[in-house]
Amino acid sequence: MSTEATAIDALTIEEAAAELERLAKVVSSNDELYHGKDQPAISDADYDALKRRNDAIEARYPELIRADSPSRRVGSAPSASFAQITHSRPMLSLDNTFSDEDVQDFIGSVYRFLGQLPDGSIAFTAEPKIDGLSMSIRYENRKLVSAATRGDGTTGENVTANVKTIKDIPNTLPADAPDVVEVRGEVYMAKSDFLALNAQMEAEGKQTYVNPRNTAAGSLRQLDAKVTASRNLRFFAYAWGEISEMPADTQLGMVEAFGKWGFPINPLMKRLSSVEDIIGHYREIGLKRPDLDYDIDGVVYKVDRLDLQARLGFRSRSPRWATAHKFPAEQAFTTVEKIEIQVGRTGALTPVARLTPITVGGVVVTNATLHNEDYIKGVGNSGERIREDDHDIRVGDTVIVQRAGDVIPQVLDVVMEKRPTGSVSYEFPKTCPVCGSHAVREVNEKTGKVDAVTRCTGGFTCSAQATEHLKHFVSRNAYDIEGLGAKQVDFFFESEDPSLQIRTAPDIFTLEKRQAGSALTKLENIDGFGKVSVGKLYAAINERRSIALHRFIYALGIRHVGETTAKLLARSYGTYEAFETAMKEAAPLFGEAWNELNAIDGIGEIVARALVEFYKEPRNVEVITRLLAEVTPEVAEQPVTSGSPVAGKTVVFTGSLEKFTRDEAKARAEGLGAKVAGSVSKKTDILVAGPGAGSKLEKARELGVQTMDEDEWLALIGG
Ligand code: IVH
Repeated sequence: MSTEATAIDALTIEEAAAELERLAKVVSSNDELYHGKDQPAISDADYDALKRRNDAIEARYPELIRADSPSRRVGSAPSASFAQITHSRPMLSLDNTFSDEDVQDFIGSVYRFLGQLPDGSIAFTAEPKIDGLSMSIRYENRKLVSAATRGDGTTGENVTANVKTIKDIPNTLPADAPDVVEVRGEVYMAKSDFLALNAQMEAEGKQTYVNPRNTAAGSLRQLDAKVTASRNLRFFAYAWGEISEMPADTQLGMVEAFGKWGFPINPLMKRLSSVEDIIGHYREIGLKRPDLDYDIDGVVYKVDRLDLQARLGFRSRSPRWATAHKFPAEQAFTTVEKIEIQVGRTGALTPVARLTPITVGGVVVTNATLHNEDYIKGVGNSGERIREDDHDIRVGDTVIVQRAGDVIPQVLDVVMEKRPTGSVSYEFPKTCPVCGSHAVREVNEKTGKVDAVTRCTGGFTCSAQATEHLKHFVSRNAYDIEGLGAKQVDFFFESEDPSLQIRTAPDIFTLEKRQAGSALTKLENIDGFGKVSVGKLYAAINERRSIALHRFIYALGIRHVGETTAKLLARSYGTYEAFETAMKEAAPLFGEAWNELNAIDGIGEIVARALVEFYKEPRNVEVITRLLAEVTPEVAEQPVTSGSPVAGKTVVFTGSLEKFTRDEAKARAEGLGAKVAGSVSKKTDILVAGPGAGSKLEKARELGVQTMDEDEWLALIGG
C-alpha cells in the first residue's frame, strides 16, 4: 500500500476532508479484516501509520473529525455468531508511543496532569505488550461464570465455553479472592505451539496459518470448543474490570494477587521510576524478544499507584495513566531474484520467493513464502484484495519483507517505483515442475469455490510427491525410523541400483534382504553410511515391524488425516483390517459404512471423503498390501472397562454441558469404554442432553434412544 502522502500542512480543507473520509474507510476495512476475520492485510506498522496520519489531520482540522473516525473507535464490532456480553466496565485501548521522546512526553504529561514537578517520585510498571487478544473473565463466588472478548470495547463475544478449555485459566479461585471479580488479560498462542500446528497442517496438506495472534483468535472464535481445547492457548493476566474488593492498591500488587490466585503473570513486569530506567527496561525486553516463546509488539507502561490512576482517569478511548511503547516492525527491503515452486506431499504447488539475502530483525532471510497463485496477484483467501491492484509480485521487484517471530517470512508489498521496466507478471505453472503432470485448482465440492492451492495431478508418479510421502512416512510421529531422514530418503529414492532403491514405503522393509542378496553396491561402502550406521539403520527399521495402529494410519499420508484423526480412526475400528474393509465399503453420503464413519465425533465430511477417495485408488491399496507383508499394525488398545456400565455403548453429548467441558465428558466416557459419537443414529445408546439441546434430542426421542441429563449421566457412571 502507498504510504507516500501529501504533507499534512499542504492539505486544503477540502482535501483534508476527502483524506479523512478515505482513512476512515481504509482503517475500518482493515479493522474488519484484523479483528473480524483474523486475517490482516497490511502490516501493523502501516496500520499505525494510517491512524497517525488520521490523528495528525484531525489535530489540524478538528472541525472535520468524523463520527466514524478511526480515532473514535476501539477494535471492531463483535461477530454475529456468538452471543454478546456487555462489559460491566468498558475494555479500553492504549495509546501508542513510538520513540524515546514520546515516552518522555507521556511521563511528563502524567506529572503535569497531577500538578507535580517531574522529580521521579511517581513509579510506573513496565511489562511486555502481548500480541494476542484481550479477554475479560468473570468470577462470581470464585467460580468462572463468563468470558468475553473485547469486541468493540463495550460489547464482546461470549466465548465462555472456549475459555474454559484453556489450562492457564483457573475455573475456580481460592477462598481469599473477592466475591465478584473480572480478571482481564491476553489469550495467546505460544510460538512453539504455532510452529508445531503449522507443521501438522502442512503434513496434512492443509493451508498453514499466518501468525500466532490470528491463529489464537481463530481458535477462540470456534463455535466448537473442542477445537479451542486442541490448540493449547495460554493466558497472561494484567488488568481487571468489575471487582467487589481490591486486593492491593498498586498495579503491581494487583497483578501479584492474580498470580496468587493461579493466573500466569508475566515475569518481565517491573516497577521503575526514572525515564532512563523505563527506557532501559524497554530495550532489555526488546533484546529478549526473539527468545520469548510468545509474540510481543511493545512494552506497556502504567502508573503504579491506583489512586493516581483514578485521578488521571480516561480520555475517550484510552487511559491517561498508560501507554504502549511499540517496537519497530521487523521489516526490510530486498529484491526477488527468482520465484520457485515447491511440490508437497499432497501435490500442493507452493511458490517461494528467493530473495537477495537481507537481515530482518537480526535474522538473515533468503526465502519468503508466496503461499499460492492468488497471493502473488494480491488476492487473499476470501477473494479480497490484499495489496493495491497493480502490486503483483514479480521477479526483479523490490519488495518489503516482514518477519514476525519465527514465522516464515512474508512478502508484504512491492515498491512500485523500483519495478524494473519491461518486467512481466509471474505466470503460475499449469503443469507440475517436477513431473510435468497437469496442475489444477480444484473446486471445493462443498462450497463450490475454487481452491487457492494448485495441485499436481501426478500422484505417485510425481517424484516430488513420492519423496515427500516417504519423508512423511518416516517422520517423527509416523514410523520415526532413526537414521532415515530427508537426506537419506532422497538418496535411496534416486538410486538406480535395485538393491538400494526405495520408491515406496514397503521398500524400506525389504532393503536389508535386498542388500544381503547379490547387491551391486553394499550400503556400508557408500559415503556417509559405514558398517555401524548401516547396522543401526536395519535395527531401527526392524524395530518398527510392529507399530501402533494410529501411527500406521497416520503414516499412510492420507489427505486431511493428521495424528488426531488417525487416533480417532484407530480407536473406532480397532484393527487395520476392520478399518480398511469399512473404508472400501464406504461411499460418499450413502450407506451404513459412510454413516458410521461420519458418526465418529471429530470426523467431518471432508476427512470422510478423503478417506474414501484414498481407498478407491488401487495403487494405494496395492502399496498397503505390500507393506502389510512386512509390518503388522497392532490392535488398538481398548481402555480397561471391567464393571463399567457404559462399556461398548455409543454415547452422544449435546446441549451446553455445565458440570464438565465437552472434552472432559468425552475423555471420561471413553475411559469407561464408551464410544462417543457426534450425531444421533440408530446405533446411539445414550444421549446426554444439557440445557439448550435441540435437534439431536428430538431425533433421539424419535428413535427411542435413551436420554438423560448431566446429573443422571454422572449417577450412571458413578459421579
Ligand atoms: S493494559 C486500559 N497491558 O493491548 C488498558 N494491555 O492496545 C488495558 N495488551 O486491548 C490494557 N499486553 O489487548 C495492557 N500488558 C498489557 C498488554 C495489553 C497486550 C493489549 C490489550 C489491549 C491492547 C491495547
